[in-house]
Amino acid sequence: MLDQVVRDLDQARTRTLGLTDLDDPTLVAQHDPLMSPLVWDLAHVGQQEEFWLLRGGDQGRPGLLEPAVDSLYDAFKHPRADRPALPLLPPVEARAYDYEVRGRVLDLLDREPDRHLFAAAMVVQHEEQHDETMYATLQLRQGTPVLLARRSLPAGRPLRPDRVRVPGGPFTLGVDAISEPTSLDNERPAHTVDVGPFWIGRVPVSNRQWQEFMADGGYRRPELWSASGWAHRTEAGLQRPLFWTAQGTRRRFGNEEDVPPDEPVQHICYFEAEAFARWAGARLPTEVEWEKACAWDPAAGRRRRWPWGSAPPGPERANLGGAALRPAPVGAYPQGASAYGAEQMIGDVWEWTSSDFTPWPGFSPMIYRDYSQPFFGGDYKVLRGGSWAVATTAIRPSFRNWDYPIRRQIFTGMRLAWDA
Ligand code: AVJ
Ligand code: FE
Repeated sequence: MLDQVVRDLDQARTRTLGLTDLDDPTLVAQHDPLMSPLVWDLAHVGQQEEFWLLRGGDQGRPGLLEPAVDSLYDAFKHPRADRPALPLLPPVEARAYDYEVRGRVLDLLDREPDRHLFAAAMVVQHEEQHDETMYATLQLRQGTPVLLARRSLPAGRPLRPDRVRVPGGPFTLGVDAISEPTSLDNERPAHTVDVGPFWIGRVPVSNRQWQEFMADGGYRRPELWSASGWAHRTEAGLQRPLFWTAQGTRRRFGNEEDVPPDEPVQHICYFEAEAFARWAGARLPTEVEWEKACAWDPAAGRRRRWPWGSAPPGPERANLGGAALRPAPVGAYPQGASAYGAEQMIGDVWEWTSSDFTPWPGFSPMIYRDYSQPFFGGDYKVLRGGSWAVATTAIRPSFRNWDYPIRRQIFTGMRLAWDA
């Protein structure tokens, strides 16, 4: 366990440093009002690592930074839009600070190998989440490309039938510390829920399907949209996914290219996903349905660690880690199928569900008490499964992400569901 978490910390840092191996102007600029300057994320990952591991989550315990500097990296104090105006550590100091913290953390883990394993795993996931956020920032950035794809992806394949049936009946939703020691507070505790029968898309919705929706007036027909969805569509002037152009191309990390028809659609908001589902005569899955289709093994009567079983995700089963810079075409991972035959549930694109972000019964906050709790309620929708930019250590079938229903700068797509 200790060796594993040390490797995971190291892998997260390699990714952080790779994503911020950019000139200072690129790091300090704000590329979009929705995002922090990259140099904020760069120091924030170290500040959180220091806070949870070296300061035990106690504001009263002094840290390496002056309190006034330390507080610049408190996400609750400074909204993203205000971060470029803050007197942030310059890139060279941010890197030196992260390095200093990491050295002390490795010493601590050496001295007390068992005591900090959960906090360390949480810190790994925190850094990996910010790495994904930095990919989103670099996708929003205008100008010549700075990221290159470092992995090629398997080809897609035709898929008939396009949906799989999940019979009704109880299953175990969520996980516990024993079965998933690195799971975060909102994934716990495991509990039994009964779910009615349903159908779920075998793979995520593709760009080709999205083009059909657009050609059929999907963005112009209020009857396909919810009331709040249509209000947003009108106010924001939505006509196509974010980064798509009126010429039928799209921008990806500074390149313009034709929209690949067999790739899962990305950069859609919840309201667009809802409208597409209605147009398709379907609906979005609930997050409970999604998790059952992903993780339940009906023959064994228990959960699987991964959709396909217990083997960790490899390049033949899922597209994770960011190196591909894009989702894989639909049908690319027959070996990644769940017990019910749903594919590409882990990796490729985050999938919108119809569920509000709420706690499971028996929820109790982890040491980072404000990781989940302030966000419970009706303001956020749950996303499942992780994107191509998510690290293997920061995704599980039980993992719950959340965002506002209008957001589409994250790597979001969707999968259809139907009542059975
Ligand atoms: C779980 C992705 C919604 O980035 O807002 C990072 C994770 N929390 N730092 C976010 C998080 C604090 C969070 N999401
Ligand atoms: Fe954070």
